[in-house]
Amino acid sequence: MPDSTTPNSKSVHHIAYTTRDVEATYDFYSNKLGLPLIHAENTRAEGGYFRHFFFGIGSGEAIAFFEVNGVGEEVDFKTEISTGLGLPPWANHIAFRLDTLEELSDQVKHMHDNGLGDILEINHGWCTSIYTEDPNGITVEFCVTTDPDGFEQTEEEALRQLRLPASEIREHEPALRLV
Ligand SMILES: [Fe+2]
Repeated sequence: MPDSTTPNSKSVHHIAYTTRDVEATYDFYSNKLGLPLIHAENTRAEGGYFRHFFFGIGSGEAIAFFEVNGVGEEVDFKTEISTGLGLPPWANHIAFRLDTLEELSDQVKHMHDNGLGDILEINHGWCTSIYTEDPNGITVEFCVTTDPDGFEQTEEEALRQLRLPASEIREHEPALRLV
């Protein structure tokens, strides 16, 4: 049995997505979200080249992007990690952790001050999140765990939920609003 208190990982090192627009991605993550550009590099490969650049998201972790040019990509490749795969926009996404609701409201203010409006806030019960969309069609979330006890489950409880028959899944309307 794996011990859930000691995962075989320290944290996220980085997660990487792909963009068609380096400047819009830089503006969004660095200016509008406030995640600093911490590294960029360019590489020739496969008869083409790619750029790879990283934004710091705290605790030494990063979100990275590729801009690809003739390195094996399909001409009409999608950067939208959900809708590009036929999924609703909220399905595949990235969530950044904040620690307090005050930090979350400061983040909303930073985003408003830098031209991002129509930010969706959802109280999920054990966490409160805000959502927006990046220039690549990727849903980006900032999330605060407001009730750690409500999140914590034993593996047995989590497995019971994971395997709950569809007929027993109840309606749930989360509290949402635009902020
Ligand atoms: Fe999420």
